[in-house]
Amino acid sequence: MEKFKLDIKSRPRRLRRSAQILGLCAETRLAPADLIMPLFVAEGKNKSEKIESMPGQFRLSIDNLLKKCERLSGLGVPAVALFPQVNPKLKSEDAGEAVNPDSVQNKAIRAVKKRFPNLCVIADIALDPYTSHGHDGILNKKGDWILNDETVEVLAAMSLVAARSGADFVAPSDMMDGRVGAIREALDDCGFTDTAIMAYSAKYASAFYGPFREAVGSGRGRGGAGIDKSGYQLNPANSREAVKEALLDASEGADVIMVKPAGHYLDIISEVRSSVDLPIAAYQVSGEYAMVCAAAERGWIDFKKIRDESLISIKRAGGDMILTYFAESFAEDFSKK
Ligand code: PBG
Repeated sequence: MEKFKLDIKSRPRRLRRSAQILGLCAETRLAPADLIMPLFVAEGKNKSEKIESMPGQFRLSIDNLLKKCERLSGLGVPAVALFPQVNPKLKSEDAGEAVNPDSVQNKAIRAVKKRFPNLCVIADIALDPYTSHGHDGILNKKGDWILNDETVEVLAAMSLVAARSGADFVAPSDMMDGRVGAIREALDDCGFTDTAIMAYSAKYASAFYGPFREAVGSGRGRGGAGIDKSGYQLNPANSREAVKEALLDASEGADVIMVKPAGHYLDIISEVRSSVDLPIAAYQVSGEYAMVCAAAERGWIDFKKIRDESLISIKRAGGDMILTYFAESFAEDFSKK
């Protein structure tokens, strides 16, 4: 019998013949320089408290936070995003602690910038770690709606304090209307014209934030998504609205536009990418991280392969930088290659 042979000229598999050729033809590459490590900071000394639903992640006191930053910058990770766990006694209806220059968050920003001036520090700007109810803003009297403008006033004040503490970026993650413009104005009025704004522009009302809420203590119990933020965060059914938000934030003076979560929102990353010229940050959130860890612990998936595939997919979709809890472990393995 004659050997079966297709009469085709185009054989795309020629470019998949070796690791070398695959490398030459790769359209997307990922390096530690693309990554931002989110870190949780808490009061205390020599504290490194495990976060149950985020294996490998800890609430760190400032001394240990500095050790972590040293490790990360040694591995070539250029930036950290700080999130505070606030003592419940300091939480209140009006989130007063958010504007305290000596809050754990601001102390952490100062400490990191002092020791590692070249490490980029991104300060989260939102009220949820500081409110007794866990919402990102000030509640009305009836307790059924977050007050927009009253919240924005606090966010602008909070941004100023973070800028004074030395943050390179302030990153409003609250989804109030008009906050980017108000923050830009407040910063400029006080001379912080070089402090940049990373706007959480397309932040969805997602159940993937469950483990994060456990980490900062703003949720209700382990793993549970807790309170409903659909009155300000985006509806997962929508994509045009994400583009609208991105354009608004760009027009108000945002320097970087964020999409969050990342893995289930690749279409949004790609649409926002083609709608604005600013750099896009994508946030691979706590629930995305937790799912990979949980399945890998059971031996059902390969941790490193899924980690790398999930990250390269986000980059391919159009994310210029990625906030990810995998930053340290990715960078560790990258340095061994
Ligand atoms: C709150 C905030 C959240 C995250 C970052 N900032 C949670 C929320 O909106 O409830 C989630 C990050 C993650 O899940 O990793 N301002």
